[in-house]
Amino acid sequence: MNTGATGTNENQAHAAQESTETRCCGIDIGGSGVKGAIVDMNTGEFVGDRIKIQTPQPATPDAVAETAAEIVRQLGWDGAVGICLPSVVTDQIALTAANIDDSWIGTNVHELFTRHLPAREIAVLNDADAAGLAEVAFGDDVVRTGAVMFLTFGTGIGSALLMNGELFPNTELGHMIVGDEEAEHQASSAVRDREELSYKKWAKRVDRVLSEYARLFNPVAFVVGGGISRKADKWVPLLTIDTPVIPATLRNRAGIIGAAMAVHKHVAP
Ligand code: BGC
Repeated sequence: MNTGATGTNENQAHAAQESTETRCCGIDIGGSGVKGAIVDMNTGEFVGDRIKIQTPQPATPDAVAETAAEIVRQLGWDGAVGICLPSVVTDQIALTAANIDDSWIGTNVHELFTRHLPAREIAVLNDADAAGLAEVAFGDDVVRTGAVMFLTFGTGIGSALLMNGELFPNTELGHMIVGDEEAEHQASSAVRDREELSYKKWAKRVDRVLSEYARLFNPVAFVVGGGISRKADKWVPLLTIDTPVIPATLRNRAGIIGAAMAVHKHVAP
């Protein structure tokens, strides 16, 4: 199993046991990787290393939950765990499955993760919602001000609608038809990689998607996250849309932090 560049060390395991009260573990399940870290809930900072393991294929609930359990073991963590994934989650039931196996649909995710990570508190929510909540807590003031659309660009396009920092959960705007195709099929960062698009060409597609969102939702700002927000200087200035577009502060750490927050604050849907 590929555990990436990071792993456990004794200090980290020790640090993890010092105080469970102000720390929670966050796990972010993606189409290509499952990532986890222990998060300091006061600062949003990671305590010790982030661990990444490739998403098992097929990405069935049990296989992915076992990968999450392996990350928690490597972190030496025995406290609360929050988990986010690319699925609509209502009452802890996964209702959709994008970029993960279809067998997630209808899965009681709380029961699933409780089976793989026994005897601890668990909360599960959508990945973009988790990232949005993390930006509200630890990101720029813009995210907490008025009607904001937070978007993640990765394997898909994730969305979190925020009003003065309050979340309207489980919006799936990556699947909105823009022109004649789903937004994420034309402008996710995976599409950019797959079609080897220049930033200029890709930014045109992002512009088109954001213009349609702006036309229908009229947010005061877009906040853009996901892995490609690390390179925001290469594409955000190319956008021509009138609505301000602001790179997310937490970049691709946001999912992990938001997942940890969900279990800490009991805000999972
Ligand atoms: C999924 C969303 C998810 C987004 C980002 C979309 O394909 O439907 O639930 O938030 O990808 O991962």
